[in-house]
Amino acid sequence: MKVSFLAMLLTTQAFAFQSANNITATTPGSNSIDFALSSGAVARVALISDGLVRVRFNPSGTFTTQLSGAISTTGLVSPQTTVYDTAQAAFLVSSSTVVAVIKQPFQVVILRADGSLVMADQPNGISWDPASGLILDEQIALPDDHYFGLGDRGGPLDRRGRTFYLLNTDWAGYGPLTDPLYISIPFFYGMEGGRAYGLFLDNPAEPFFDFDTEQTGNVIFGAQQGELDYYVMTGPSPASIAHSYAQLTGFSQMPPLWTLGYHQSRYSYTQSEALTVANTLRSMSIPVDSIYFDIGYMKQMQQFTWDPVAFPSPTTMIHQLSQLGVQRVNIFEPLVSNTDPLWPYLAGSDYFLNDSTGEPVVASIWYGNVSFFDFTRDSARDWYTQVLQTFMAQGITGAWNDLNEPAASYISSALYDYDGQPRSDLQARDTYALEENQVNYNAQLGLRPNVRPWALSRSGFAGIQRYAANWSGDQNSTFASLNMSVQITNQMGLSGQNQFGHDVGGFLGSPDAELFIRWLEFGSYIPLFRNHATDTSAPREPYAFGEPYTTMARNIINQRYQLLPYLYSLHRQASQQGAPVVAPALYYFPGDTLTYQQDQEFMLGPNLLVAPVSTAGATTQTVYLPAGTTWFDTYTGTAYQGGQQIVAAAPLQQIPVYAPAGAIIPHGAVKQYVSQAADPDLSIDCYPGANSQFVMYEDDGASFAYQTGSFLETTISSSSSSTAISVRLQRTAGSFLPSAREIMLLLHASAGATSVTLNGSALAQVSNTSSLSSVTSGWAYDSTAHVLSAKFPDSSEPASVVVQ
Ligand code: NOJ
Repeated sequence: MKVSFLAMLLTTQAFAFQSANNITATTPGSNSIDFALSSGAVARVALISDGLVRVRFNPSGTFTTQLSGAISTTGLVSPQTTVYDTAQAAFLVSSSTVVAVIKQPFQVVILRADGSLVMADQPNGISWDPASGLILDEQIALPDDHYFGLGDRGGPLDRRGRTFYLLNTDWAGYGPLTDPLYISIPFFYGMEGGRAYGLFLDNPAEPFFDFDTEQTGNVIFGAQQGELDYYVMTGPSPASIAHSYAQLTGFSQMPPLWTLGYHQSRYSYTQSEALTVANTLRSMSIPVDSIYFDIGYMKQMQQFTWDPVAFPSPTTMIHQLSQLGVQRVNIFEPLVSNTDPLWPYLAGSDYFLNDSTGEPVVASIWYGNVSFFDFTRDSARDWYTQVLQTFMAQGITGAWNDLNEPAASYISSALYDYDGQPRSDLQARDTYALEENQVNYNAQLGLRPNVRPWALSRSGFAGIQRYAANWSGDQNSTFASLNMSVQITNQMGLSGQNQFGHDVGGFLGSPDAELFIRWLEFGSYIPLFRNHATDTSAPREPYAFGEPYTTMARNIINQRYQLLPYLYSLHRQASQQGAPVVAPALYYFPGDTLTYQQDQEFMLGPNLLVAPVSTAGATTQTVYLPAGTTWFDTYTGTAYQGGQQIVAAAPLQQIPVYAPAGAIIPHGAVKQYVSQAADPDLSIDCYPGANSQFVMYEDDGASFAYQTGSFLETTISSSSSSTAISVRLQRTAGSFLPSAREIMLLLHASAGATSVTLNGSALAQVSNTSSLSSVTSGWAYDSTAHVLSAKFPDSSEPASVVVQ
């Protein structure tokens, strides 16, 4: 098994594997046990938090101090642990977890307190090749184990039967099975019998995973060099795994609210084009929050410059965009061409990746002959921070960090300084973007201490969610790429990155109107909603295709803005609990194994199931509605029992969207940009269900004031029975005060009501829903839409609405 798997890795190399062998010494600690092995290796097994186990294994006999930078812990608490040591095995036991380390030979087995198996090494599962350093662990894959995650890869949702190599790589025009790709997140979920566990391998030296490709009942993971250092989350709920992973690698940041709006990009707007696009969108009432400046803004592609011809007055442009409420995002490259006048100075200062003789490495890529900044060197970080701050101080709101794989694949002669403890390209490439984005984040924070920094990064490693959003790089403008984008969205959602998106329309090529509208629909339901295209593609601004497509595009973008109160609340949950903003349905319905195959639909939070259309000419879409609840068609209100596949109507401009029983979804008014002073009213869609709750989150959308209490959480609870529906709104945390506003409750599937009360007093019934606009409180029933609307002023006091 190992031999043929490794033959795929490096056909030219002969491996001579050594095995872990027997434990010769055991040293128990309070939450961990250290082992010495007859092979000369050392191992440490630790229970670092409830249901979170770390396993380290180092053939060299000492543990490494060269860590990846992925780990940034929050809230881990060592559990009460009992340590047992016997001749055959050593044990760590907490109330939820049993870790057994068998001694002859070394073998780790993890169980939950109920006896269910989490993971088990094969006997002598750990082995390594002393010459190359390649190390791997072979574990048991049970027949009904299924695997999900690993971030940025397309293909079927269930990873079983595939092999992955996680080495950050620039790969334009990739397909669903392309591997490797831009982003590496060596973290997966295993699911068996409705129970989940998580495994994060913290080694960036081209980590690899083989999910039983040879059908011998083995899952293999490892890396080309270094220590086997992995974390296991015992679950069994997917939510507890997502939480543990965020505790380990960082909770995602609260994004600035404008980054949840619509982003308009293109390679490469000039000053006048950018202003024309912004003004046209405003004049056509198509919302937009940001415009991007691709490499064409630079003078001869030199970093931190403006081209004086294309951008005669950046200051004027920035001012005008700012007046329109449009944020500015500039691309920054982590490299400098050797024809750039700055290059000699930067090379002489050792700010680039050098080779072993201390000379800067020059790599040849499409950009030219370039050297890459070394973000692992203090002096280079300082220089970069200062120039970035000076540039962004002109009024640039966000950074777009491109080509940071780094985009020369591969720079084998490069040494990454790591402040005097150099690492090779193999050891450091995967974490290059993580290092760059950390510098970028801190630079923005230094420049504007009370403004949330924001960057969009192409590449990344586990932990990137602490510093940047990601997108999926250069896809083709095809329906097949749209289909693949839905697949990748699901996997990235499981991988801790909560702000992820795709170039709407696909980067390479020119989508026709239908593909553009289908992609726009999908983009409007995921956290990063950016339209971007290559320089040779036809225009694809939302108005570019003319009517009826302009109206469709406006409607789609409008509904995105209406969804922001819900979406922003999901980001709060992600930043507090690690709950994914987007996830495959299996995250919420792990017991329904049919969800394990659904890669063409996703959940946006717990309350919306979205099924994008990625087939040319389609007017219907097959949707699987998970078992265990009732689902409501959000367009018609029609109820469906879960556990069935249905064919949903999906005319162009109608993406199938379903809400589960009890769903609560706050909606705001359409705005042209998020900070526009506009109608502050809120509507809250409630679908019938036994008992449910949603915490709506609000703050100023821009600053860090929320960290000191200036936010508002409103708990919305709903319950329905055959005789009554009750909804309660209560401000449960925070001091942020929203503007005076009215609340419109939209109670779906609520026929036959005769009375509606607010805090015990009757609300007046008006003749129809439109009449509600002229009263401050009242209710009406729309028998066509099957929606009862109840309106009342928002208040700091709790509001209880009862419908009978
Ligand atoms: C590659 C990026 O993926 C793409 O989005 C960008 O437009 C080009 N580089 C040009 O900067």
